[in-house]
Formats: sequence, structure tokens, C-alpha cells
Amino acid sequence: MTNTIYERVASVIPAAEWALFEPYVNAINALKRERNAVILAHNYQTPEIFHGVADIVGDSLHLARAARRAEADVILVCGVYFMGETAKLLNPERTVLVPDKKAGCSLAESITAADVRALRERYPGVPVVAYVNTTAAVKAESDICCTSSNAVRIVESLGVPRVIVLPDEFLAAYVAANTSVEIISWKGRCEVHERFRGIDVERLREDDDGLVVIAHPECPPDVIEASDFAGSTSQMVEFVRAHQDRRVVLLTECSMSDNVVAEFPNVEFVRPCNLCPHMKRNTLPKILRSLQTMQEEVFVESSVRVRAVRAIDAMLAM
Ligand code: 13P
Ligand code: SF4
Repeated sequence: MTNTIYERVASVIPAAEWALFEPYVNAINALKRERNAVILAHNYQTPEIFHGVADIVGDSLHLARAARRAEADVILVCGVYFMGETAKLLNPERTVLVPDKKAGCSLAESITAADVRALRERYPGVPVVAYVNTTAAVKAESDICCTSSNAVRIVESLGVPRVIVLPDEFLAAYVAANTSVEIISWKGRCEVHERFRGIDVERLREDDDGLVVIAHPECPPDVIEASDFAGSTSQMVEFVRAHQDRRVVLLTECSMSDNVVAEFPNVEFVRPCNLCPHMKRNTLPKILRSLQTMQEEVFVESSVRVRAVRAIDAMLAM
């Protein structure tokens, strides 16, 4: 069984390293069956997690939808803490685990529930769209959630001339560039994507004029401007699948290219990329320990849950 898994990661994990991962992969997959557990993993998880033990992989929207449909007794979320919270909001009766509760996010940490209440006082009547990269408490103060794959559609669905989009100032700028709705933003940034620069894209193109540049909407506006396409992590993969370009650079987290390289043998993935230290807190030993000890369990206070789930449901209903 692990031979078939290894075929998918052989180009990015040396055999000697795989020998260290293999016992964990086997133990996790066996324990998953015993516990009736499902593992949801974000596209930024390392290849041994993504291909070795995950049952469902994808972008934030896909994982939220999968969490909504989950029937397992235990949902283990390999991503960052807000993703575990989203799964718990949608599954209050099930056990939701994360391998490491310290896996935070610079966007989720950039805004509090009190900040959202202050924004509402400043802009009375203006609806609040919260990126899923927020705490449950912030979602609870918002009207509807969005992800990078549906943000423009969600904003336009509200049918009003002005909308608050928080907390990512760059995602808000991306939405503003793609709609006539006036966007009020917050000052949060993704510490991974803010490091890409437009000048780097220009230099990459100077070195290879056939290079196709794909950026995440959390990148600064000059990077998006200089790119051929911008979209969520899953939309990036769909773009690569549809176009099959010879040389591609994914301006996002490093594991993205590692995880899809086997699917596209004719595409060369050019790096640079940036690592998300929070996503990288998840490891096979921590996942195994999590299933063995049923720690670390995610809880959301019920008064927060009722309001936060409304904002997520409004998005999923779209
Ligand atoms: P998506 O997978 O929804 O594009 O989100 C990217 C991200 O940064 C998640 O933390
Ligand atoms: Fe947060 Fe950025 Fe890491 Fe995603 S990549 S979890 S947005 S810090």
C-alpha cells in the first residue's frame, strides 16, 4: 500500500527519508480506521501528510464543505487552528482534533471581535464579509464568510454599494480590483504571501519569457498585477490542469508545488516559494499522537458558535 503512496511523492521525498515516514503512515492509517476518523488536510501540508494520510485535501472552501458533509466520529484537521475551528463549528457533536493548537495564522491574529464591532459603529449598515482566516469570535460578528476562491462572488451577492472585507488588506484589494462595489478593508496580512514582490515576478520573466506566473490573492497588488492568473490554492491547480503550460511558478506556500508535481509530469514548477511556519507545525508524529491521545481537541463556546456558524452557512449556501 505504501508503495503506491510513495510513487506519488518519490520526486520530492528521497527513499531514505520515506523509510522514516513509512511506519508513521501505516500506524496513522490503521488508527484512523479504528477510531472511525477522517483526516482533512490543506494544500499547504507537506507531501507525506497530503499523500500519505489525508482522506480529503483541498483549499479552505473545499475543506469547509468536506467538514459540513463529514460523517466520521473524529475529524482531524491538518491545517491551522482556524480550520479546526471551522470544522468544529459545522460539527458540534463530533470530536474535532488538530495536531498542534499553536498552528496560528497572521491574518486570524490581526483582528479581534471588538475590532469588528468598532468597524460596524464606524460604518453603520455596511455588511461585513469575513475571510475564513479569522477566529470563530470574529466570524460571529460578521454577516457572511468568504474564501479566496469566492470572495468577489460573495461581495457581489450582497447587492449593496459598500462592503467591509476583512482582515486581509491584499485580498480586499484583489476584490476591489474585480468589482464595482466599494470595499472597506482592514490592515491584516498573510506573513507568507506579503513577502512576494512585483519586481521578483519581472525578474523571473526576464530569465524565462515563457514562464506562466500564478499568484494567490493574498499576495500584494503589484504581484497580482504582474501575474497571469490569481486564485485560491485549488484554483491554481485547476489552472495548471487546464493549461498544461511548460514552466509554471506558483507564488504561494512551498508545499503546493511539491504536492501537485506528480500529477503534472510535463510541467516544470519553478520555485521561489515561501514556507508557512504555522502549517509546518503539523508532522506525522504529532498526527499519530493526536489520534492516540485524542488531543488536541477543538472547542468553541456555544454562544459564539451559533452566530459564527450562521456566517459560514451563509457562504456555503452560495
Ligand atoms: P486557500 O487554500 O483557500 O487558497 O487559502 C490559502 C491560505 O493561505 C490558507 O491559510
Ligand atoms: Fe495564515 Fe498565510 Fe499561513 Fe495561510 S499561509 S495559514 S494565511 S499565515
